[in-house]
Amino acid sequence: MSIALIVGGSDDLARRMSGAIGHPTVALGAEAVVADGASLLRGLDPATLPEAIVFTDEVPLARALSMADEVRAVRPDIDMVLIATAERDVMRDAMRAGIRDVAASIEEPVLLAGLRDRLDARSGGARLAAMTPMPQPPIDFTSRTVVVVSPKGGVGKTSVSSNLAVALAKQSPMEVVLLDLDLQFGDLSTVLDLEPIHTLADAFGAAARDNLLLKTYLTVHPTGFYVLCGADSPAANDKVGGEQVVQLIRQLQDQFRYVLIDTAAGLDDATLAALECADDVVLMSTMDVACLRGVRKEIELLTELSLLPDSRHVVLNFADKQTGLRVKDVEAMLGMPVDFVLPRAKEVPASANRGVPLLASAKSGPFVKTVKALSKRIDDRARASEEKRGHRRMEVA
Ligand SMILES: Nc1ncnc2c1ncn2[C@@H]1O[C@H](COP(=O)(O)OP(=O)(O)O)[C@@H](O)[C@H]1O
Ligand SMILES: [Mg+2]
Repeated sequence: MSIALIVGGSDDLARRMSGAIGHPTVALGAEAVVADGASLLRGLDPATLPEAIVFTDEVPLARALSMADEVRAVRPDIDMVLIATAERDVMRDAMRAGIRDVAASIEEPVLLAGLRDRLDARSGGARLAAMTPMPQPPIDFTSRTVVVVSPKGGVGKTSVSSNLAVALAKQSPMEVVLLDLDLQFGDLSTVLDLEPIHTLADAFGAAARDNLLLKTYLTVHPTGFYVLCGADSPAANDKVGGEQVVQLIRQLQDQFRYVLIDTAAGLDDATLAALECADDVVLMSTMDVACLRGVRKEIELLTELSLLPDSRHVVLNFADKQTGLRVKDVEAMLGMPVDFVLPRAKEVPASANRGVPLLASAKSGPFVKTVKALSKRIDDRARASEEKRGHRRMEVA
């Protein structure tokens, strides 16, 4: 058995948590650690520290972070968790202080399950005999998975998915993860100017089965969303199969309100797996007959395979009159309405070259307006489906 410590909690809370995680839990009242000059470690032998420490929101954030930092310095192996609102700055500071996970509530099922599993692993499976489940609050969100696809390359999938992530994150900060499923030539890290420490290749590794460990493989974008970047080498994910992709997406769905997925051209195994998990699909096309025919075939095939979710958004990119086609012609060719038309805009490649998504730097313009409208439509559908399931969501001011 392992021991967990709650810093900033009552004995009653410790008893309930012990029931939920199956490991003895002790609590230290917040007053014990917030007093001037108080130290969590003073007089303690670091070797006797508990295996897990939860800092609750009864402890002022700065104090919790400095204690975590002290603990990390002597026992980096201790599993530390912070209860706080998951704002970008908080997440960043928490990770720097060696905190493994941040959750809004100590009763969050994912948090408790993660802690339980990790403590189980440390203690070789030994647990308290009587496990009484903690009363669980209703999960307050439904995760929505949005997949951006097209039969062709160079049609704007990466441009749209990266900018859509910025738009969705405005509404749901730190609740969006953007996944680069263009397994060979994914370029999200380039267009977002990120230098990831970990990539998809790590996430597909065995260790990543742990939800919380997976979170440490994500890179935070300064506008408030997470990115799981592609690997540097086109061969790194050679052996990745559809099942692994599905498992990874399911893990991300446990933790994020929006799982947004950029894909490679066409329908490879990874894209089909993503579509299996999708609630929304963004179908991208340019205004040329070859691409439109490809999209039509893709729609037909996906319908046959029952892989086309009901919520679809057809986006026509590089739209201009010189193509000789009108939107009406396009709709006739596709057999479905066009929902959004994106004009050719020189700011799009310019912003990608700078590594700053256009939505992060420009407030207006047709591209920005249209991606915002797409984001609103996706968000509206997510809300409608949450309401149907009786979930309420917190509003962002
Ligand atoms: N509406 C647009 N106007 C101008 N350039 C665009 C537009 N959409 C995409 N681009 C540019 O076209 C190229 C291909 O876009 P990208 O998003 O990488 O396509 P994909 O991911 O489908 O291969 C990039 O250089 C991108 O900056
Ligand atoms: Mg791309």
